[in-house]
Amino acid sequence: MVKKDSPVPIYFQVEEIIKESIDSGKWKKGEAIPSERQFCEQYSISRMTVRQAITNLVNEGILERKRGKGTFVSAGKVLQDLTGITSFTEQMKELGKSPETKVQSFEEISASKQAAKELGLIQGEAMYKIKRTRLADGDPVAYETTYLPCRLFPDLAKIHAEGSIYDYIERQSGMPILYGRQEIEASEAGKKAAEALKIHEGAPVLKIQRTSYTEGDLAVEYTKTVYRGDRYKYVMELERKTSGSFQPFT
Ligand code: GLP
Repeated sequence: MVKKDSPVPIYFQVEEIIKESIDSGKWKKGEAIPSERQFCEQYSISRMTVRQAITNLVNEGILERKRGKGTFVSAGKVLQDLTGITSFTEQMKELGKSPETKVQSFEEISASKQAAKELGLIQGEAMYKIKRTRLADGDPVAYETTYLPCRLFPDLAKIHAEGSIYDYIERQSGMPILYGRQEIEASEAGKKAAEALKIHEGAPVLKIQRTSYTEGDLAVEYTKTVYRGDRYKYVMELERKTSGSFQPFT
């Protein structure tokens, strides 16, 4: 029930009603919620108030709007474990989601200064530049630009990029990917990433850069990934490094 004489703003009360319906299981993940008009009629409130409540919950990642279809209970965030080095394909499979990849572009270019440094190449040496949109159960969640040295993978073709690149690297080199170095930063979606991820330009995203290595500290890929901020959550298990070095109170 909405209490119009309450000091609590009406949009906030509507937010609470929606959250309660989700928490109680009345509206399940991925299901459509009633239309704005239905909310207006049910609670005798203005469309603007309903819209504000829904927008706030969309911004919190609790609801999502699908153009032309309505508003849905968000499918939830993909949890990525940061302690191990896994591929996108492996992460999705572990979560019971079906991975899919759209290759936006596949080209051979001369290594830029930064990519050369990351991959241990000579500046100007040939490398692949692959742009891919990664989907989980049909929803775009990540937009990646991957660089690989042509020298190590002379037969790499677009078709391989449609599947798991890690899988290809490991089979091709015969060596497992052993470790990676990763940088994470909060950022805003640029035009291309926004288009690929179906979000607004400027929407919050996580940007991750990873260089992956096989045996002998051989850098095999350097990838810049833009993850949808409302779809990704990182989990880290932290070990206390100073453990045991404290002086107990006496
Ligand atoms: C993750 C990493 C990327 C890596 C990719 C490989 O998304 N952030 O650095 O390139 O996995 O995924 P796949 O083997 O599915 O192509």
